[in-house]
Amino acid sequence: MSKFWSPFVKDLVPYVPGEQPKLSKLVKLNTNENPYGPSPKAIAAMQAEVNDNLRLYPDPNSDRLKQAVADYYGVQTNQVFVGNGSDEVLAHAFHGLFKHDAPLLFPDISYSFYPVYCGLYGIEQQQVPLDEQFQIRVEDYARPNGGIIFPNPNAPTGCLLPLEAIERLLQNSPDSVVLVDEAYIDFGGQTAIALVDKYPNLLVTQTLSKSRSLAGLRVGIAVGHPDLIEALERIKNSFNSYPLDRMAIAGAAAAFEDRAYFEKTCQQVIDSREVVVAGLQGLGFEVLPSAANFVFARHPDKDAATLAAGLREQGVIVRHFKQQRIAQFLRISIGTPEQNQALLDVLRGL
Ligand SMILES: Cc1ncc(COP(=O)(O)O)c(C=O)c1O
Repeated sequence: MSKFWSPFVKDLVPYVPGEQPKLSKLVKLNTNENPYGPSPKAIAAMQAEVNDNLRLYPDPNSDRLKQAVADYYGVQTNQVFVGNGSDEVLAHAFHGLFKHDAPLLFPDISYSFYPVYCGLYGIEQQQVPLDEQFQIRVEDYARPNGGIIFPNPNAPTGCLLPLEAIERLLQNSPDSVVLVDEAYIDFGGQTAIALVDKYPNLLVTQTLSKSRSLAGLRVGIAVGHPDLIEALERIKNSFNSYPLDRMAIAGAAAAFEDRAYFEKTCQQVIDSREVVVAGLQGLGFEVLPSAANFVFARHPDKDAATLAAGLREQGVIVRHFKQQRIAQFLRISIGTPEQNQALLDVLRGL
């Protein structure tokens, strides 16, 4: 605390990111990165940008990337927004679309950045409990609200809400924005982007950090009605007009264009997930049904914090949340087959 701070800074409760350790030998299964590298075509496209042109600002509108996303999803470019990671896209959505008289609704167990953005932008929130099976109950959201947001699949549970349930949600709240945060959708769900032409109140965000293995590049997207996109553009152009650099625009566009590599690596992660689920179940864990690149698991007799510490001692890091209802769960990212085996081997001894 310092006398130089603006008064509101002292009350901020910032997000705490998962650990990014400096040691490289660790089996790092704590922040849901992709164990396979980005598309070689994306890497080549980024390398081609490393030249004298870096003295020039990038395209403030990232038109090349918006076109690649529009082509990929069969939408118009004015339905696409891009930002510096989906965290930034989400921040602009909170700022530009969720500050109303009624509270923003989101699940009690979901992405822990949502309450942080509420604090940052002074947005009233109401957390809606997941049911006993850790599923979203659509009926619980049919109440006055200034917006609804949830990850699909949910994080950190990994559970998927089917598209027909999302349609019911949209129909129940036609006067507020429903934001579906699809950070993990490519590992087992159907994107709600298919619904954006039908529902002007739907905004879908995605990230290139997971299924396209570009967490280090920081690129996220939003797709929705042009009016929603315009709100995000207005915020962006009042904050930072060049959020994506030249490498990011080129690399992200090439990643969307390389469908074959994307599909192959997603399938590898999905196949490995099923191996990890079976392995964990074999060790007595209960594993929630996951459509993501991580699993959420608890052991009936073993304390989750103790397990996380024991894993860490042997070089495997997973994520443990000290939060009510989920304090006995571990969130484990899916790694390479070797990393997954190392995880199961260490757990067997704990
Ligand atoms: C549900 C969810 N949304 C958004 C993000 C942010 O992703 P990024 O800022 O890397 O695009 C994450 C990252 O872990 C996430 O879990």
